[in-house]
Amino acid sequence: MNTRETLKIENGQLIIGGVSAVELREKFGTPLYVLDESYIREVSRAFVSGLKEGYGEGEIAVAYASKALCNTAVLKITSSEGLYTDVVSGGELFTALKAGVEPSKIIMHGNNKTDSELKMALENEIGYIVVDSFCEIERLNKFASEASKKPTVLLRVNPLVTAHTHEAVQTAKADSKFGIVIGDEAEKAIKIMVDAENLEFMGIHCHIGSQIFDYSAYESSVATMTEFVKRLSDDGIEIKVLNMGGGFGVFYAGDDPMFTPRRYAHTVKNLAIIVAKALSEYGLKKPMLIIEPGRAIVGEAGVTLYSVGTIKDLGVRKYIAVDGGMFDNPRFALYQSEYSAIIANKANEPLSDNVSICGKCCESGDLIGVDIKLQKAELDDIVAVFTTGAYNYSMASNYNLNAVPPMVLVKDGKADYIVKPQTFEDMIRNNCFASWQK
Ligand code: LLP
Repeated sequence: MNTRETLKIENGQLIIGGVSAVELREKFGTPLYVLDESYIREVSRAFVSGLKEGYGEGEIAVAYASKALCNTAVLKITSSEGLYTDVVSGGELFTALKAGVEPSKIIMHGNNKTDSELKMALENEIGYIVVDSFCEIERLNKFASEASKKPTVLLRVNPLVTAHTHEAVQTAKADSKFGIVIGDEAEKAIKIMVDAENLEFMGIHCHIGSQIFDYSAYESSVATMTEFVKRLSDDGIEIKVLNMGGGFGVFYAGDDPMFTPRRYAHTVKNLAIIVAKALSEYGLKKPMLIIEPGRAIVGEAGVTLYSVGTIKDLGVRKYIAVDGGMFDNPRFALYQSEYSAIIANKANEPLSDNVSICGKCCESGDLIGVDIKLQKAELDDIVAVFTTGAYNYSMASNYNLNAVPPMVLVKDGKADYIVKPQTFEDMIRNNCFASWQK
C-alpha cells in the first residue's frame, strides 16, 4: 500500500479521500470501485508541470489515455486539469464528447479504426488522428475528401524498442500489430500523407508498452524517434508534433517502485530534457511534445472494496472469497498481475495470514491474487484491493451475468456515484427474441 494524505489508515480503519471504507460499504454496498479525485488531480498536475519544466519554452501536452478508465466524470476531471484525451474507439470518443472535452484536445488511436470511427473523428474535427497503417491513409484521405475536411494526422511508428514489462503489453517489438516500422517504411507512409490532398501531416507517435519502470527503454525510444525526426528534416519534412506515448508504471505490490506525484514530475521532466537535448544536438526546432499516461493518472487513485463471503482453509491454501472477481478485475486472470490488499475494517492488525483472494465466478482462474499477506479475515470483513483505478472498470465484463460494480468518487470527506449500479434489467436490456420465437 502506497499511502498518502488521501489514502491512509486511522484507528485501524482505511480512509479514502476522507471517507472510511466502512461508511462507503454502508452507503453504497460492495463490490465497489472507489476513486480518489484529489489524487487524479495531483498526478495530472505533476505530469503537466514536470513535462513543461523539462521542455523549457517548447509546447507540451499531456494526454490522458482514457482506455485506462473511461467515464464522463473521470474525463471531466482530467480535462479540467488541462489534459488532452486519448481515445481508441468510437465509444471512448463518444464518452469524451459527452464529458465536454474540447474536440481539438482529443487524439484518436487504433490499429483498425472502423469506417464509422474515422468518420466520427472527422465530423467532430478532433485534434489528431493517429494513422496506423498504409491502408488507413488511403481510407482516411477518401473519407476526409468526401466530408470536405482536412484532419491533422500523426503516424504511429514502431521504434522497435523492447520494454521490460509483461509481454502482452509490449507494443514496439518487431512482431507487433501496431504502427509502421521506423525507417524506410515509415518515411514512405509519411510522404504519402504529406502528398495526400485531404490530410494535414503533423508528426509522429510511438508507444513502447505499459507498466514500465525501465527508463532506459524510454531513452532508447527518444534516441530512435529524434534521429528519425532529423532524417525527415533532412528530407524536407518538418515534424511539428512528437508524441512519445504512455506506459509509466505504478505500484501494485512487492518490489514495484513507489511513485508519488513529485516523482512522476521528476521522471517526465527528465524525459523532456533528453528529448530537448537530442533535438538541439541535431539543430532541430522543438516540436510540440505529447505524452499519454493512462495507468499512472488513475491507477493508484482507485481502490476496490469487497465483502468476504466464504473462507476455505484447504491446508495447502487458504481461500478468501469475495463478492467480486474477474468480472470487475480480470488482470490476474489475464496477466497474473499482483495486487496488495488489506482488511479495511481491521487494518491495524498484523498481516498474519497468507491467502488467495478469489472471486465468485465459476472458474478456478477467477482470482484477484495468490499468496497475499493479509490480516486474519472473518466473514463479512471488508477487503480493500489497491491500485485498481486503471484497467479494471475499463476491462470489466458481465461474466456469469454479474453486474459491473458501481463507482464512487471521493473527495474531502464526500462520496457520490459516478457510475451507478448496474441492474439485472440493464444487463439484459438488449436481449430480444428472434422473430420465430415470438
Ligand atoms: N498510448 C497508447 C497508444 C497506448 O496504447 C496506451 C496503452 C497508452 C498510451 C497508455 O499506457 P499506460 O500509460 O496506461 O501504460 N490492459 C493492460 C494495459 C494495456 C495498455 C494498452 N495501451 C493492463 O491491464 O495492464
